[in-house]
Amino acid sequence: MALLSKPNEKTESGFSPIPVIDISDPESKHALVKACEDFGFFKVINHGVSSELVSVLEHEAVEFFLLPASDKTQVAGYPFGYGNREIGRNGDVGWVEYLLMNANLDFGSHSFFPGLFNNPETFRNALLEYTTSVRKMTSHVLEMITDGLGIEPRNTLSKLVSDKNTDSIFRLNHYPPCPHHINTNTNTNGGNNVIGFGEHTDPQIISVLRSNNTSGLQINLADGSWISVPSDPSSFFFNVGDSLQVLTNGKFKSVKHRVLANSRKSRVSMIYFAGPSLTQRIAPLSCLTDNEDESLYKEFTWSEYKNYAYHSRLSDNRLQPFER
Ligand code: OGA
Ligand code: NI
Repeated sequence: MALLSKPNEKTESGFSPIPVIDISDPESKHALVKACEDFGFFKVINHGVSSELVSVLEHEAVEFFLLPASDKTQVAGYPFGYGNREIGRNGDVGWVEYLLMNANLDFGSHSFFPGLFNNPETFRNALLEYTTSVRKMTSHVLEMITDGLGIEPRNTLSKLVSDKNTDSIFRLNHYPPCPHHINTNTNTNGGNNVIGFGEHTDPQIISVLRSNNTSGLQINLADGSWISVPSDPSSFFFNVGDSLQVLTNGKFKSVKHRVLANSRKSRVSMIYFAGPSLTQRIAPLSCLTDNEDESLYKEFTWSEYKNYAYHSRLSDNRLQPFER
């Protein structure tokens, strides 16, 4: 298990620089754009996603992860299904178990629901409602961003993730408490330096994360330092993904992030990765570049990029081969 050498100083002061955006206020569009430029990361409040829905889904997730390993491995699979410790197929490991599902609009027909859930119908309905609601919020956020950038029409970005054929993914992560004999380096917050999920950027357009009240997520700042993201179960955290970095010609940065294991408490997170359709062409938006020479990236399709990302290591700079 990888150990980290550098403890995080910034959060120990209690101050968090992470932008908090009230998306019920149209004027937040400027703060949103600034957050995407400065951090590639922000927290969203007044989002309108039902907390009851979130609780149902979290409860079902906790029940699932409590099942014996032999039950969970029955639904082990790639790219969708259960996984433990191994993240992807290229040698990355972490102190995490997870369940990955397709979340596009017709995933109702997904054959993967294993009957392992206490109540599969409850889980399935909660998941459908949750992804519908989060997709709506995501479109709203992308429209505000488009407005903030002065781009027309407003749906220039949101249409990429609300199309019928979008390639979106839903992921449940469970980080069990990491026992002390594995953790040689406990710090004062009950945090430790064992990697739950190694540093990476998300390849999609934007990712929407919600977690229980256990911290562990960290983001990398422009100066290269890591800061902890204080947990907040009632809010959503948005990550700019690689594809949005390309669409904005590098104006927005896809944020590098990671999760450190906690020695005392379990972390449960759910992430909606909003991706475009497989055939979608990804290139800097023409309204953000004066001419093609200014484009920092070669054009690619989402399917090409995804394929490439699936064959790389988590911490690779996956955009590099697509730079001009
Ligand atoms: C991811 C991720 C963070 C978390 O799954 O891509 O960054 O808190 N997860 O689980
Ligand atoms: Ni991620």
